[in-house]
Amino acid sequence: MTAATATTAETFRPALHYAARNTWLNDPNGLIFHEGVYHLYYQNNPLDKVWGNMSWGHATSTDLLTWTEHPVAISCDENEDIFSGSIVYDRSNTSGFGTEAVPPLVAIYTSAFKPGSGHEGVQAQSLAYSLDGGYTWTKHTGSPVLDRHSAEFRDPKVIKYDGGAGTYWVMVAVEAKDFQVVLYKSDDLKNWELLSTFGPANATGGVWECPDLFQLPVDGDPEDLKWVLTVNLNPGGPNSGSAGQYFVGDFDGTTFTSATTVTEGQQDPSRLAEYQWLDWGRDYYAAVSFSDAPDNRRLMIAWMNNWEYAQRIPTSPWRSPMSLAREVTLAAVDGNLRLVQQPVGDWSTRADSSRDFSLSRTTISDAVQLLDGAAGAVQRIEVTFTPGTAGEFGLILRGDGVVGTRVAVRPEEGFLVIDRRQSGQTDFHESFPSIDTAPVSTKNGSYQLTIFVDHCSVEVFAQGGHVTMTELIFPAETSTGLAVYATGGSATINRLQVTQFA
Ligand code: FRU
Repeated sequence: MTAATATTAETFRPALHYAARNTWLNDPNGLIFHEGVYHLYYQNNPLDKVWGNMSWGHATSTDLLTWTEHPVAISCDENEDIFSGSIVYDRSNTSGFGTEAVPPLVAIYTSAFKPGSGHEGVQAQSLAYSLDGGYTWTKHTGSPVLDRHSAEFRDPKVIKYDGGAGTYWVMVAVEAKDFQVVLYKSDDLKNWELLSTFGPANATGGVWECPDLFQLPVDGDPEDLKWVLTVNLNPGGPNSGSAGQYFVGDFDGTTFTSATTVTEGQQDPSRLAEYQWLDWGRDYYAAVSFSDAPDNRRLMIAWMNNWEYAQRIPTSPWRSPMSLAREVTLAAVDGNLRLVQQPVGDWSTRADSSRDFSLSRTTISDAVQLLDGAAGAVQRIEVTFTPGTAGEFGLILRGDGVVGTRVAVRPEEGFLVIDRRQSGQTDFHESFPSIDTAPVSTKNGSYQLTIFVDHCSVEVFAQGGHVTMTELIFPAETSTGLAVYATGGSATINRLQVTQFA
């Protein structure tokens, strides 16, 4: 039996990531931490494993690593599909959907109206509420509450603004084809007033979708707060297809002012590498953050897929996993404000320490070294390389030392690379087998990579999370070997540690 025939679709079901039991999912929606539980709602087709019948699926977790699927939370009906949106805890019952004693959770979502609804072809913002902590939902009969008579107005993310200009709800949503984020305010989640618009700016090679707006301290200093506006776009990402960009600046309660805009208006494709990306890989889209995460942390989850080939990935009966949850923080890097990202979770609860593997200082020259005892399908690899004369060095994971997924550094070009051309099944779509790059530079003379490998994914956090790359892979179940390599010269592994997960 060849390795390829040992692969079944269920082989790819992730161990550390959420995927629906037997249906399609795309964007994470309504992320909220409430009463000790992380709620993950998501774009879901309850009837199939391709896009359609869009409804909000629902899963919960207490540790962000293990998820429990629940019945569909908000269903499409004859009038509307339920597109992306967010959830807020309306503590003081501003909406009146609850009571003082039982404040509601309120979902703000996009109604994609169907023929016969009276709003055919329109996308407008609607409400639903829950009085039982997010498990059952009632649609607000007064929806839609915000209608611009637009066919491309979607993906509302609502936050509670509490600053110099007052205290009120702020919504960021998109006019997708205008490459514009539109900002609204409300006191009761039902009546909305336009504040301002942002964009076009930086990457505009595809529609703008799924925005988010949040405040973060710079280098942890509570006296130095900045605002971050994220917006996903499809296509037009740095390595083709779907991706998420961000802007850092200020929000005065009315207007977001970006300090990181490079180009206004139409995209200049030669400048993609100058823009700020949440992730440089092919499979990190529709990223959005949790409301009310503990300790004011900013935690994000993305859909781990790319609209270029999303509906063709070879998994069954489910399709598309979510990314790991990431904490994002803001750091001043060489005088520029940049997001830094780290995976969140208590990995020790899932680690099989009897299979720990480590390699001490080793220099390799124009060679591949398969690491005996490091094989595994679900693992975290932490490695630091010091460049020598090699043009490229790195790891071949989920392989056999010849084929596999290459995670590499090309020091002269200043690139982090994921090469998935020989990662396993790649022939389901012509654009899937790819070699993708992100700019990376040395830190104290070396390159540090933390890599999470799961049954169908690889997530790379380089240089302490300053650069991230997330990609899907579909290796045979038997492809578990881990190798290190250097081509065209030498490179030194200062330290390599592998933690295996159950
Ligand atoms: C992004 C998106 C959103 C929309 C949803 C529909 O992937 O296109 O803009 O709300 O998916 O499923």
